[in-house]
Amino acid sequence: MHEAQEAAAAAVTLPDVPLLDVRDLHVEFRTRDGVAKAVNGVSYGVRAGETLAVLGESGSGKSVTAQAVMGILDSPPGHVTGGEVLFRGEDLLTMGGERRRRLRGAKLSMIFQDALSALNPVMSVGAQLAEMYSVHDGMTRKDSRAKAVQMMERVRIPAAKERAGDYPHQFSGGMRQRIMIAMALALEPDLVIADEPTTALDVTVQAQVMDLLAELQREYRMGLILITHDLGVVADVADRIAVMYAGRIVETAPVHALYAAPAHPYTAGLLGSIPRLDHKGKELHAIKGLPPSLTDIPAGCPFNPRCPRAQAICRTDRPPLFDVAPGRASACHFWKETLDDAG
Ligand SMILES: Nc1ncnc2c1ncn2[C@@H]1O[C@H](COP(=O)(O)OP(=O)(O)O)[C@@H](O)[C@H]1O
Ligand code: SF4
Ligand SMILES: [Mg+2]
Repeated sequence: MHEAQEAAAAAVTLPDVPLLDVRDLHVEFRTRDGVAKAVNGVSYGVRAGETLAVLGESGSGKSVTAQAVMGILDSPPGHVTGGEVLFRGEDLLTMGGERRRRLRGAKLSMIFQDALSALNPVMSVGAQLAEMYSVHDGMTRKDSRAKAVQMMERVRIPAAKERAGDYPHQFSGGMRQRIMIAMALALEPDLVIADEPTTALDVTVQAQVMDLLAELQREYRMGLILITHDLGVVADVADRIAVMYAGRIVETAPVHALYAAPAHPYTAGLLGSIPRLDHKGKELHAIKGLPPSLTDIPAGCPFNPRCPRAQAICRTDRPPLFDVAPGRASACHFWKETLDDAG
């Protein structure tokens, strides 16, 4: 099927009620250096079978948003100060701890960047996987061991049966990341959040692990939130993108529309800074300057000190998310001009 047709078919069959609906989430860190406003009114949704990429430079609040959703925020110093996190219509932030713990793992799970610190170093990978089945599904020891090996095969660990007794440090980085994917998907969750799942890997291994994750996502029809600072990674796997800057979503769009013509100067800057094969030898247009300190976010548009398009209004008035097109929004006073220049 043609890519556009495939997208249209997927759009028709997706349910209307989002699996996850994050609404106006606020998170701050209260530290000796002041209050860092890490997440400032983030709203996003993910439907079953859909992949949302969350993109932004380091420190933009991508991981903190995910931690608040999963209930694993480092608190204190982190505090959720507002918003809702609706999972199938139920607010994770206000439900009882016991119920939330049961959802986590079984219905919602997370893949981290660093498998070595996320996995238990003193337990064989087969035993760690088997434990998920015996604890959550009440399987016998023998059955859970067999399921563990099956899952290792599913993520294409060569000689899975022989290697089930090995410890995390005995695997290569890429294989360890596959094991973490196996752990996250073992109980067939409805939603998976993958936080920079391939950032620590070599480029060639990155592509293999990302392809595997995308394949499993389609097969299980899970909702996937893919957090990354690398635009190159998301083009082939995501349906939609939310671009974050200084704890806010500054642009959200279907992935093809965003690549074709960004409606926010920050997105345009990010697009300009991906290395492309056809641009070999040319200088990369990295965005000038640094993201703001979250204890002292600039007035007006937070991006204004770095923005090549900034006008007086940008230093005084904070742009809301303007509707640009169905399913598209941009927090820029000059989104029209930006879009026109890109198209
Ligand atoms: N444990 C913490 N203690 C204090 N501040 C934190 C902590 N974790 C995150 N922050 C603050 O939140 C900001 C956003 O962090 P994060 O969400 O991890 O960024 P990223 O977009 O790179 O994932 C950081 O720049 C920092 O100011
Ligand atoms: S609102 Fe102004 S400063 Fe902000 S991105 Fe748009 S043009 Fe740039
Ligand atoms: Mg992060």
